[in-house]
Amino acid sequence: MYRYRDLSVELCGVRFENPFVLAAAPPTDELDMVRRAFRMGWAGAVLKTTHVEDAEVDLVYPMMSSVNMKDRRVAGLGNIDLISHYGIEVVEERVRSLKEEFPEKVVMASIMGSRKEEWQELVMRLEEAGVDMIECSFSCPQGSMGERSGAMLGQDGEASKKVAAWVKSAAKRVPVVIKITPQVAFISEIVQMIKEGGADAVCASNTIPSLMGIDLETLVPYPNVRGKSTYSGLSGSLIKPITLRTIAEIKKNVDIPITGTGGVMNWKDAVELMLVGASNVQLCTAVMHYGYGIIDDLIVGLSNYLETHDFASPMQLIGKSLPHIASHDLLERNPHIKAHVDDDKCVRCGLCHIACRDGGHQAIDFDIDSRLALVDEDKCVGCRLCRTVCPVGDCISMRYL
Ligand SMILES: Cc1cc2nc3c(=O)[nH]c(=O)nc-3n(C[C@H](O)[C@H](O)[C@H](O)COP(=O)(O)O)c2cc1C
Repeated sequence: MYRYRDLSVELCGVRFENPFVLAAAPPTDELDMVRRAFRMGWAGAVLKTTHVEDAEVDLVYPMMSSVNMKDRRVAGLGNIDLISHYGIEVVEERVRSLKEEFPEKVVMASIMGSRKEEWQELVMRLEEAGVDMIECSFSCPQGSMGERSGAMLGQDGEASKKVAAWVKSAAKRVPVVIKITPQVAFISEIVQMIKEGGADAVCASNTIPSLMGIDLETLVPYPNVRGKSTYSGLSGSLIKPITLRTIAEIKKNVDIPITGTGGVMNWKDAVELMLVGASNVQLCTAVMHYGYGIIDDLIVGLSNYLETHDFASPMQLIGKSLPHIASHDLLERNPHIKAHVDDDKCVRCGLCHIACRDGGHQAIDFDIDSRLALVDEDKCVGCRLCRTVCPVGDCISMRYL
């Protein structure tokens, strides 16, 4: 594959040959799968979350469902999966094999424990096996083991700080990453406590607890497990805006490195996560949908973007958009922005007229004969609803007067 430049990035002193890492999930739950992904060009993998030997992982099937849009399957993926059924004794062997075969790849292991001794045993055994980084799941949507039943550890700042400190005190060599949930009121306060606990980085963030939809014939929500369902973890495209906001909030308020995950389906999404502060990106849903082969597009797309936008390295992307994010009260109050419709591009659908009439400022008339939209600049406040609903990308533009 043609590589345009050095795409390497660094997180907590660990070098990744490119920013693309497999997130802890089914694509990293078998040794041969990870081997195949590494050979195809993935820079690293977080092995699916493991646990101490005697912990019970009671999986339920079917476990997947999706939010589909009219022309698109899996805009969002819902899962009721749990952590891996493979215990630490299997994962430590896998870490050994992978590090021996692929010394240049970053092998991360994800762990979840309940008592202090469990968290610490997991860390020590993985470190001994040669893992490069340890990620701690504080954000399984089915609830964390041992803490409040059904709650996520990452929703409790004090508990997160305490467990981060346990893990960190057991780790002699490897950086410790805490995988957080965005499902909290003030994410930077939680991350600040995690940092005080000693964590080296955070993984932002995990799936979003959701109810995936309801079958109107059976009245049972998805996924239907013999007449009952439960809340899913939502991933994929639909959650990218939440991930972007989460990473931006953390990066603006807490000085801690971030590995980003949540809604990255292509290289553009990956660049966006880096622009708000992620040092690298982890993917799951895109791989579960399209396979490991997307790594080629990710690498070529990123390379081209860097080339055409004069970035010498992906590291230069990190946080570059943050200066453009401000609180609402600091945004310029400018009444002189108006919508402009390009008649040559207009497909005469009238959607902008309807949206403006019933959801805006009644500023777009619709000519019955020509079926063209006519903007009344005196009424137009420049809200951009028309541009948002227009099916033609660049037919309506917003212009400062
Ligand atoms: C089926 C499934 C299983 C997952 N299992 C785990 C897990 O064991 N540990 C974990 O930390 N995250 C787990 N995740 C979350 C992913 O690692 C990832 O953070 C999340 O899906 C968001 O990224 P995405 O939008 O690219 O999928 C799982 C996700 C899915 C879809």
